[in-house]
Amino acid sequence: MHFTIVGTGAIGSLWGLKLRQAGHQVHLLTRHQEVTLERGFEKAQPVYFAANQPDLLKDSDCIVICVKAFHVEAAIHRILPNLHPDMPVVLMHNGMGTTDTALRLVSNNPLLFATTSHGSLMLSSTEIKHTGIGETRVGGINALGKRCDFLADVLDHALSPCCWDEHIQQALWHKLAINCMINPLSAIDQIPNGDLLLPRYQEQLLLLSKEIAQVMNTEGIATSGDDVLHKTLDVAQATASNYSSMNRDIFHQRRSEIDFITGYLIKRAALHGIATPKNTALYKAIKNLESSYDNT
Ligand code: PAF
Repeated sequence: MHFTIVGTGAIGSLWGLKLRQAGHQVHLLTRHQEVTLERGFEKAQPVYFAANQPDLLKDSDCIVICVKAFHVEAAIHRILPNLHPDMPVVLMHNGMGTTDTALRLVSNNPLLFATTSHGSLMLSSTEIKHTGIGETRVGGINALGKRCDFLADVLDHALSPCCWDEHIQQALWHKLAINCMINPLSAIDQIPNGDLLLPRYQEQLLLLSKEIAQVMNTEGIATSGDDVLHKTLDVAQATASNYSSMNRDIFHQRRSEIDFITGYLIKRAALHGIATPKNTALYKAIKNLESSYDNT
């Protein structure tokens, strides 16, 4: 198949390399002007990808948007002029809150969402490290997207395990819960994910998980504080050496996805009248760090 991957951060690059290794043609779209981009796994030969070529975008069989949640709208505007109605568009990012915009902008295309718990780290601007095997779940957002279950097999062949999920909204909530638990804490304390297994974090993780489970239950998602906690600890274990995406954003003084992760949780909680003091404290701490950046 011909893929265009929009966004060449840790996850976009991971999928680009894996799809290419599986024999697909992969074209990358970035905010920069280059027509060729180099990407490689740590210590492996670099791979050269065609980049930013409107003809390749037009010829794509599938577009995977791997930009941060707050860049999704701009990314869709960029692909719109070259989008054929039968091209599936897959959103793949941390957090929730972008699907309404995506549905409005690409209402005639199959629209899907994929959520992944693989750990991937940019070691330099061209080199990535696959720091943890996770799983990917993909499912349709609109009726056309719900017919594209073949994509789960294609993605699974490239980077297993990947499965089709009829209830992708639930999977997004479960992933949101993990991101609410891991990302802000690992960013504030500048620790790798595995450090969250240390005894000193357990009390805080327990309280966070209870708040998150309560919001999820009210959203119709069956879970419990224990379930959220255990799933989080499993991911922290599987990606122990990884620095979470928010950890890297704060480290490099970039905007983080907090508004689409903990921010989304808090907004939904407020709608239901649920208090989330522990999560709100983490939200504020990340916002404070972002506003303290020296951008002069
Ligand atoms: O945001 C991240 O870094 C990832 O979603 C995860 C799964 C927490 C692994 O680091």
